[in-house]
Amino acid sequence: MQTPLANKEFDHTNTINALADTFENIRLACLETGVYQICINRPKVLNALNLQCLEELNACLDLIERNSDVRVLLVTGAGEKAFVAGADIAYMKQLSAQEAEDFSAYGNQTFSRFSQLKVPVIALVKGYALGGGCELALSCDFILASDKACFAQPEVNLAILPGFGGSQRLTRRLGLSLALELVMTGRNIKSDEALKLGLVNHVYPADSLNEAGLELAKGLTHKSPYALAAIKQLMHQGENIPLDQALKLESQSFALTFAGNDREVAMQAFLDKSQASFRSLQKTS
Ligand code: COA
Repeated sequence: MQTPLANKEFDHTNTINALADTFENIRLACLETGVYQICINRPKVLNALNLQCLEELNACLDLIERNSDVRVLLVTGAGEKAFVAGADIAYMKQLSAQEAEDFSAYGNQTFSRFSQLKVPVIALVKGYALGGGCELALSCDFILASDKACFAQPEVNLAILPGFGGSQRLTRRLGLSLALELVMTGRNIKSDEALKLGLVNHVYPADSLNEAGLELAKGLTHKSPYALAAIKQLMHQGENIPLDQALKLESQSFALTFAGNDREVAMQAFLDKSQASFRSLQKTS
């Protein structure tokens, strides 16, 4: 079924979209004011990730970082069958050990950029999110899944292991024992189990996933970009440091939000019973 969101993917109106038109494996589109979508676009191979795809993803993230109109980023895969069915096995088959290390490092560096972006990033997962697909989703701030989604780290079946962060992000998300089970067995996790485990935030019927993602994204465009960026940086950094240090970081970040203009606007709007509106973050280049 064609959703209103899918119809909007081709609303290319500005420079960012003109530049994005040069990509072969990625579609970048502005869906609504402030809401942009990256779509991995290799449906013939279920959106499997090869080197060119990662290079284009990096170039796409450069565009996103430089564009102050971007307030929320959605990440999805083309077609109904897959989000991303993993790293491209045909590409990986011919890699030497050294080339495999470089491919993994490049993938890790690319996926880590999603948590370094100042804007919220939401994965919309329809169908298969396997291997690199599961890892891509785990790199986003939230995961919304369709009721037909299927997650796994099946690398063990190829006699390799997750190379784009899965062995580490899955452990942080689910705990060591469960993550070990999933990485060692490579078993499929359907949406209902993914929800129970806390792997995904929400599950929707397949034909309403895009609408749900867009609604969530639109809601976030009305929040202070300054506060969202501070929350994102604080919570991602805090996850990997001891609690006492993380709490210090929280106090410093709390102070930073008081130093900004947005909290003045937001608190006054509360007292005036009016709706606050916030300017985009200024980009450096
Ligand atoms: N890399 C390269 N090509 C892939 C791929 C991947 N990760 N996943 C799917 N494809 C290709 C298939 O080779 C096939 O190509 P073909 O039409 O030229 O034969 C096409 O995508 C469709 O996949 P197919 O296997 O025919 O679909 P299916 O519905 O029978 O099975 C999957 C779907 C996802 C279960 C199956 O494709 C699969 O297991 N993929 C690999 C998953 C994986 O191990 N990912 C981790 C890699 S580290």
